[in-house]
Amino acid sequence: MIKFDFDTFRKQNITDEELNQFDNIDNEINVFFDQYKNYMGWYHIDKLFNNQIMEDINATGSYIKDNCDAFIVVGIGGSYLGSQAVIEALNDYYYNQKKSPKIYYLGTSLSSQQYNDFIDLIKEKEIIINVISKSGTTLETTITYELLLKFMKEKYNPEELKNRVIITTDNDDNPLKEDARKYGFKSFIIPSDIGGRYSVFTPAGLLPIRVSNFDLKKLYDGAKEACNNINNQIKYAIIRHLMYKKGKTIEAFVIYEPKLNSFVEWLKQLYAESLGKEEKGILPIGLSNTKDLHSMGQYIQEGSKIVFETIIKTNSNNNMMIDKYNKTLDQINDIACLSTAAAHLEAGVLNNIITIETINEKTIGYLMQFFMISCAISGYIEGVNPFDQEGVNNYKTKIEELL
Ligand code: PA5
Repeated sequence: MIKFDFDTFRKQNITDEELNQFDNIDNEINVFFDQYKNYMGWYHIDKLFNNQIMEDINATGSYIKDNCDAFIVVGIGGSYLGSQAVIEALNDYYYNQKKSPKIYYLGTSLSSQQYNDFIDLIKEKEIIINVISKSGTTLETTITYELLLKFMKEKYNPEELKNRVIITTDNDDNPLKEDARKYGFKSFIIPSDIGGRYSVFTPAGLLPIRVSNFDLKKLYDGAKEACNNINNQIKYAIIRHLMYKKGKTIEAFVIYEPKLNSFVEWLKQLYAESLGKEEKGILPIGLSNTKDLHSMGQYIQEGSKIVFETIIKTNSNNNMMIDKYNKTLDQINDIACLSTAAAHLEAGVLNNIITIETINEKTIGYLMQFFMISCAISGYIEGVNPFDQEGVNNYKTKIEELL
């Protein structure tokens, strides 16, 4: 289903001694996970996908599909990146032109221009919004919600409005929760032991994914499989660490299938926000090839040798012949991927290759859980807490002060 190839790292003269220091890592990880159990709700996949929650999400998802032309997800950071990654990876490229309801993401900027243009686009449409914020206080989300609520109050009577706003937040009291009570909005809970960037398998991610008509059970099956065997996650985390120790301070997540662009955005957030702290951490960047071979590719090939690559290679089987080369387009894309990896390797840029046979709910579920677990393990190896984000909180506080 998914193949992990970490062998090129052998070429970086990784010695047995370097690897041996991790001999006891399985036990140490268990202790670490236990120490952070109050942040690790996402690891207990059975609890997240329990029947009651699934029924509620399925029923609400069907209601949304039947009652609006536009479904608007309002949220920032971990509140939207996971569902967007899954929805774009699994859908047709032009799903929003073809499917109903159309799915939009709003609240990721403070641009009045963007908001104006958006309202102009949807003002005649029937809409349902899903406001997602664990804290219920995030600036961009609450401002966008305030604007949309004003717009909706003019468009719908109170009874109708009640069925058109869904709040997803944590269980504590916060302004969003209060509004849900005040107006009688439907609400979903993000468990207290799951932070935003680990929340894709909570209602924060699952409801939008369901609205896009995907099978949550298969997503669960994939995630569960990743939990059942964490050897590859351990190996990946160790290799990242050894790369870092050898001066590779940038990890490029590389794709050759642009459907995974948002998946890479999700990955960048997961790794940057979890591990970039205490003046340490590998900087995650994304390369969408072959587009970026005509820009960033130059740097990777001949620039400072501070980058290593994690390539997510996908297979597909469209029989689109390109006569000039007597090969299918998929074969040419594969050749581009493997020959570029070889050229980079020759230049001293090492790469992991993760190959996905088919992009579907199960493989995406697996891959997301794979990366979340590896990220937590990297937190252990680097000696940082992978679940907090004091740096982000600092900027939030500064803005609040000035406002
Ligand atoms: O991963 C995280 O914790 C953050 O990126 C949050 O998701 C982001 O800051 C939004 O926070 P909230 O869900 O509280 O609105």
